[in-house]
Amino acid sequence: MDQRPIGVFDSGSGGLTAVREIRSILPSENIIYFGDTSRVPYGGRSPEILLHYARQDVHFLRSFDVKALLVACGTVSTNALPVLAAESDIPILGVVEPACAAAAAATRNRKVGLIATSASVRSGAYERTLAAMDSAITVYAGACPLFVPLVENGRFRPGDTVIETVAREYLTPLRDTGIDTLILGCTHYPLLAEVIAGVMGSGVTLIDSGASAARALRQALSDKDLLAQRASGTLTLYASDQPQDFGALAPQFLRRPLEGAVLPVDIERY
Ligand code: DGL
Repeated sequence: MDQRPIGVFDSGSGGLTAVREIRSILPSENIIYFGDTSRVPYGGRSPEILLHYARQDVHFLRSFDVKALLVACGTVSTNALPVLAAESDIPILGVVEPACAAAAAATRNRKVGLIATSASVRSGAYERTLAAMDSAITVYAGACPLFVPLVENGRFRPGDTVIETVAREYLTPLRDTGIDTLILGCTHYPLLAEVIAGVMGSGVTLIDSGASAARALRQALSDKDLLAQRASGTLTLYASDQPQDFGALAPQFLRRPLEGAVLPVDIERY
């Protein structure tokens, strides 16, 4: 048993899709979440800058004596997780392995699609991980750079002409490949699940990378005897800019009202 909190971070609100799942399957855990809203989006940045940002994000969360870290950001997971893990003496998980495992289990025709940020697609991390799990899987990848800014601006609802148009543009070529499984390789994308399903059709299984990572986290904590025991855990949210805006959007990711205000943090101090 370990009563210390779990640290979770993303460039913005997307990682809250992982938090939603953690709260549902690990209700006793205290969670400290950091959204790096002063530097979102991460998705077009270089591996060097991403590592620099990620080290600051980790440093900030470690100031709370967390027992484990979840990198609830596809972009950091694909570009920096091996280095962060090598530098960490506590468990640190990303979204790539868990999402690939879920996709490999779900696909029947071994044609798997991936949508993610440009930096994630460029890294080739999802392809490498899937190939190691099942070499017969073919991956069809597409970057969707406009999705994160649109989601961060609340443009994710079905019927919104802007997001519907952008989604059709990005997803139609992927649909035409005949994939039966699509990895939502960025943790912002589950907010777009209905819009994405509307283009891809009901025959394509969508894999939520944040939720898959939350389930992997439960397994890792249980294996290491690090699960907390209390009636009900807490969620504390930090943002590096415009915490009020973050707080206004967060309930839509979490599908519940916030328990308190979002707290500001100057991430450049870390
Ligand atoms: N949620 C982040 C991810 O999973 C978004 C990256 C970005 O800020 O562009 O990749």
